[in-house]
Amino acid sequence: MSILKIARMGHPVLRQVATPIADPTSPEIKALVQDMCETLDDIQGAGLAAPQVHVSKRLVIFQVPARRTDNEASAVPLQVLINPVIEPQGDEMVETWERCLSVPGLAGLVPRYKSIRYTGLTLAGEQIDRTVDGFHAVVVQHECDHLDGVLYPQRMKNLEKLVFTDEIRHHIEGNDA
Ligand code: NI
Repeated sequence: MSILKIARMGHPVLRQVATPIADPTSPEIKALVQDMCETLDDIQGAGLAAPQVHVSKRLVIFQVPARRTDNEASAVPLQVLINPVIEPQGDEMVETWERCLSVPGLAGLVPRYKSIRYTGLTLAGEQIDRTVDGFHAVVVQHECDHLDGVLYPQRMKNLEKLVFTDEIRHHIEGNDA
């Protein structure tokens, strides 16, 4: 296991459309996920996409900490999601402050679909199919955007709401993703 270097905004790997993973059960993917989990744990992030560690493959990991949900039951431990597909449920949008490991020091108010259905595969190759809202929906949209070369500032409607976290820290909680 090792802690991986994070690509920052401007690195070409963050602009690429990542390629699907043919075999989620391969040892190569398992090792990548182990390193990504160790990296995310080390930096106390909410989520991480493979392109952020310079691997242009369609794989993300994320978690939903209890403090980011309305009730403890909605907390989600670290998840691996391979070849994810997102289907918005309705047109309703919500705006949330987001941070990104690839955009260090900044936070932005980003509109996202309130409710989404997402599908994908586990490391065991099993199908995932969930309909979620709240922070869970936000973090999945944020991570999956990384697979299409999109960083959260590109989703923002008002760049006045792109700020340095240490300037307005008391307004923003949360983890990088
Ligand atoms: Ni990010």
